[in-house]
Amino acid sequence: MMNMPDHPSREALLAAADTVPVDEINVGQPILFQEDAIWPYFARLRREAPVHYCGASEFGPFWSITKYRHIMQIEANTEVFSSDVKYGGITMRDQLVDFVLPMFIAMDPPRHDEQRAAVQPIVGAPSLAHLERLVRERAQAVLDGLPIGETFNWVERVSIELTTQLLATLFDFPWEDRRKLTRWSDVATALPGHGIVDSDEQRKAEMLECLHYFTQLWNERVNAPPRNDLVSMMAHAEATRHQSPMDFLGNLLLLIVGGNDTTRNSITGGLYALNKFPDEYTKLIANPGLVPNMVPEIIRWQTPLAHMRRTATRDHAFEGHAIKAGDKVVMWYVSGNYDEDVIADAERLIVDRERPRRHLSFGFGLHRCLGERLADLQLRILWEEILERFGRIEVMDEPQRIFSTFVKGYSTLNVRIPPDQ
Ligand code: HEM
Repeated sequence: MMNMPDHPSREALLAAADTVPVDEINVGQPILFQEDAIWPYFARLRREAPVHYCGASEFGPFWSITKYRHIMQIEANTEVFSSDVKYGGITMRDQLVDFVLPMFIAMDPPRHDEQRAAVQPIVGAPSLAHLERLVRERAQAVLDGLPIGETFNWVERVSIELTTQLLATLFDFPWEDRRKLTRWSDVATALPGHGIVDSDEQRKAEMLECLHYFTQLWNERVNAPPRNDLVSMMAHAEATRHQSPMDFLGNLLLLIVGGNDTTRNSITGGLYALNKFPDEYTKLIANPGLVPNMVPEIIRWQTPLAHMRRTATRDHAFEGHAIKAGDKVVMWYVSGNYDEDVIADAERLIVDRERPRRHLSFGFGLHRCLGERLADLQLRILWEEILERFGRIEVMDEPQRIFSTFVKGYSTLNVRIPPDQ
């Protein structure tokens, strides 16, 4: 298999994309994402082997599904392609066998549907109306506090801060402790040994801290009247009020990671993309009315979750390939969103693209993202407020990216707001 040494250069990774035999391609290497070298590999798979088997990787053997229409087919066939945690979960990396975290994204119906319904009111019209005001006030405060004329890390000052604030509101989490949510989200998705945690043991210990903290919130709320926060909703709904501690932790982490990494990396990715395509930035500044159209386009362009995984529940022929019971099937949203048969000129961010919601970043079908409208709200308001205040925010150098095949995002984006625009 084409497994690269630990730190090959970006150029070497890019060059290998054209020379390696197609059977030996392994897109399950986090370094390809960290070095932003994954694109020619996916382009080749879409062209030469859209349903592709990789026999060995650090996550075990897996199928790659890279075309838009095939991803929709796999998503729609939940009977054959299961999300259930008993098969290993929804990412390439299997859940740890001694620390299984059930969560409704990793459940099949009917349990999935019941538990999803328990927290659905968070995206109902009354909740969104209430959040709109808060999100705007907070975006204004964060933007007004930014230094003018100095270089700073947009990820830290804006993307992380705003998404953490929203998450704290959704959970009604103690405000002064809100950065704990950021930490738990990072830990939940981290690959041990790559900067965030050193080992799975450390990961488990921090996850248990998260459970302990939230159990106190649960205990306060379970005997109080129901309120409009996610902990209270779970404590009162029939489907979740008797859940085990590990079920509770699983669902918490689903909501923490779901609401955190994704929106955070869309906030960063949007600014980065507008700098990469300055004509689009000019178009946007001239016409801020394009923001609602641009938001889903940013989410497509960024694709903050690169993949979701399913597991075959039985032998199944798919597009002429014999998928066996137990095989891992990885749906690469990041490739489907750049599928030239569906999306023209996909590498470009086009702020007035037609049909911008035609993308796979939120998945499709039964498990389609619950938080889509929250993400939309957060990004729309932020960009409205940015355009109210500033001209062009300049990206100073290339961003640093996350070492992951799952979370597609950034740890650093250095920017500067020029004075006197
Ligand atoms: C599910 C992406 C924001 C909560 C998902 C899925 C994806 C996704 C790909 C799985 C879809 C599938 O398997 O078909 C995103 C992106 C976001 C975002 C790209 C932002 C740009 C949020 C937010 C929340 C959230 C703000 C709120 C807390 C969830 C939940 C699920 C989910 C609870 C599980 C749904 C289910 O299994 O029924 N999201 N998400 N997401 N997302 Fe999001």
